[in-house]
Amino acid sequence: PAPGWAIAADVVVVGSGVAGLTAALRCEAAGLTTVVVTKARLDDGSTRWAQGGIAAALGEGDTPEQHLDDTLAAGAGLCDETAVRLLVTEGPGAVRRLIETGAHFDESSEGGLALTREGGHHRRRIVHAGGDATGAEISRALVEAVRARGLRTIENALVLDLLTDAEGRTAGVTLHVMGEGQHDGVGAVHAPAVVLATGGMGQVFAATTNPPVSTGDGVALALRAGAEVSDLEFVQFHPTVLFLGTDAEGQQPLVSEAVRGEGAHLVDADGVRFMVGQHELAELAPRDIVAKAIMRRMQERDAEHMFLDARHFGAEMWEHRFPTILAACRANGIDPVTEPIPIAPAAHYASGGVRTDDHGRTTVPGLYASGECACTGVHGANRLASNSLLEGLVYAERIVADIVAERAADGLPARVPEPVPHPDRPAHPLLAPESRFAIQRIMTQGAGVLRSAESLGGAAEQLQRLHTDARDALDVHGKTAEPGVDTWEATNLLCVARVLVAAAQLREETRGCHWREDHAERDDARWRRHIVVTLDPDRS
Ligand code: SIN
Repeated sequence: PAPGWAIAADVVVVGSGVAGLTAALRCEAAGLTTVVVTKARLDDGSTRWAQGGIAAALGEGDTPEQHLDDTLAAGAGLCDETAVRLLVTEGPGAVRRLIETGAHFDESSEGGLALTREGGHHRRRIVHAGGDATGAEISRALVEAVRARGLRTIENALVLDLLTDAEGRTAGVTLHVMGEGQHDGVGAVHAPAVVLATGGMGQVFAATTNPPVSTGDGVALALRAGAEVSDLEFVQFHPTVLFLGTDAEGQQPLVSEAVRGEGAHLVDADGVRFMVGQHELAELAPRDIVAKAIMRRMQERDAEHMFLDARHFGAEMWEHRFPTILAACRANGIDPVTEPIPIAPAAHYASGGVRTDDHGRTTVPGLYASGECACTGVHGANRLASNSLLEGLVYAERIVADIVAERAADGLPARVPEPVPHPDRPAHPLLAPESRFAIQRIMTQGAGVLRSAESLGGAAEQLQRLHTDARDALDVHGKTAEPGVDTWEATNLLCVARVLVAAAQLREETRGCHWREDHAERDDARWRRHIVVTLDPDRS
């Protein structure tokens, strides 16, 4: 739809998690007029839900080189080493700057930062806050800083599409805004630089740790704009999500890796610690290895879940160190102080996303991506625990440095660009909101933790049917779902689900968090490479 209003800025940041708000604050500090647009409220994204913390080589004896080694090992041969090196070397400084911005992290009895461990880390290097409420503290600090500095924000603003100028360069975004006064309805922010920081796409599955807003909007926008998207097949399933029944849907409570980092055991119904002997780090093996071991044990025992046993922590430690998890368990009738916690893997993190270089630039000039919606190359086939908040921080700073440098060098225009319309592009068929649930069921059945040619083929066929039905309704009957946030979310979910499944079908091997039952081995000769996808914006 044609925008009913437009405002202008130097930079528009889409999303308000750690990546988006860090970028916005750095833009403001660099003197760039910045507008932050976010789909719900400023603190409604995934950042707020992060428990474990931020990984950075801040402990005595730890080094960026060791952090690099752990990250590369978890990434199963597909990390971009240069990108990881930037992450781990710039990480400690980025965490210190976050502290200067106002975030308070837990301290040890000696007064320095308290550091914990998580899967795949050979050292204690995870900074945390409020015990297990790290993301909530980061979100609080960043939102407060954004408000204190008077940054312009538009909430309840779902991003629709990228605007481009006559040369195909970024010219801003269109938005669907609900109930925000003068910015109500469909409008546009015109800007020569757009930073996508829209977070993940966990809602593409039926059970996920992600909040309802994680619907892949930035990745879908980038695909529609012709940008390269990479590694979507690498969906990370968190090993220990509170098990609430096989038919549980929507956002599920996470039980942080840090619980294992502090010594909890993974056990089956007989109390056997099945990770011991499977990996030198046992329960603290990288996440994909633990998730697969849990699934395998569930299959062997015909069980719906396994258990995480941390009764030996005692009440005081549970209350002090893991208050959020304790409350979530108790709210669901489980007391981890006296009983093992039922857990099963659930969708948690998109390791892939909009492909960027080391400055966060996508393949569309002026369009940047940061945080979970981006694929900077730091995660490879499987993200190392607690590297995601760090990536959001480090790459947001790199993006802003690049915007500043490009403006100085005339690589990015300082003027507000003139977007050009594309009247010849086919109208996009919109999906009815209830299609969301069909997509989630299809994806969980066909493209979940365990995948095969057969399961993926079934998923691809059903997703194609949803697309064809929507396409036919538009082309043959001139009908499409009423535009609105729910409609766009379902449409975006279908867009990313189709690409994810196509990539998972293509990758005939098991690597990192992509597990093919019919191709159980890693195949470096054929598959030590990335699957990069682009769509033609002139076709739908
Ligand atoms: C957790 O606390 O286990 C989540 C950490 C992460 O996803 O990096």
